[in-house]
Amino acid sequence: MDIKSLVRDISDFPKPGILFRDITTLLRDPHGLRYAVDTMTEKCAPLQPDCIVGMESRGFLFGVPLAYQLGIGFIPVRKPGKLPAPCHEIEYELEYGSDRLSMHQDAIQPGARVLIVDDLIATGGTAVATVQLLELAQAELVGFCFLIELQNLKGRQRLPNVPILTLIEY
Ligand code: PRP
Ligand code: ADE
Repeated sequence: MDIKSLVRDISDFPKPGILFRDITTLLRDPHGLRYAVDTMTEKCAPLQPDCIVGMESRGFLFGVPLAYQLGIGFIPVRKPGKLPAPCHEIEYELEYGSDRLSMHQDAIQPGARVLIVDDLIATGGTAVATVQLLELAQAELVGFCFLIELQNLKGRQRLPNVPILTLIEY
């Protein structure tokens, strides 16, 4: 199935010069959504993760159904001030700004095998920050799964040497 054709391109969003890859058009398509989650499941199952960590907010859209399909739990990484219990926190750079990410300190058992899931990797800043949160939690990173990779931004090169699974490349 050609799920790339279900992703819509929007020029100059959220800032001039950014070509935004809009996944809402894929999400609203029942066949596209099922194909995307099923393909992620097939690719990620061999990594045998104990849990999935997904980043606010678009990482939740794929991380939760993937965790459900794999029969494992989901842990949210959120923007600051959203999680109620004590958090680890990391500052990071975006393609269009900077922000901070947080995760509950007690969310992951030390040594747990964790798969990081997001809708898209651009510069890799979000993924690198999430890796740092996992280091603080003493988790074992087993891989990454992104629906979309923006290859020209070379985010992949900033990630540790574990499998990086993607479905759509630009
Ligand atoms: C987007 C996207 C990734 C991140 C990728 O999230 O969902 O998380 O940017 O960019 P990077 O590789 O350069 O870090 P965004 O921060 O826009 O938040 P959202 O998911 O809430 O829209
Ligand atoms: N997140 C970071 N860069 C993006 C882009 N070009 N399109 C959609 N989401 C993004």
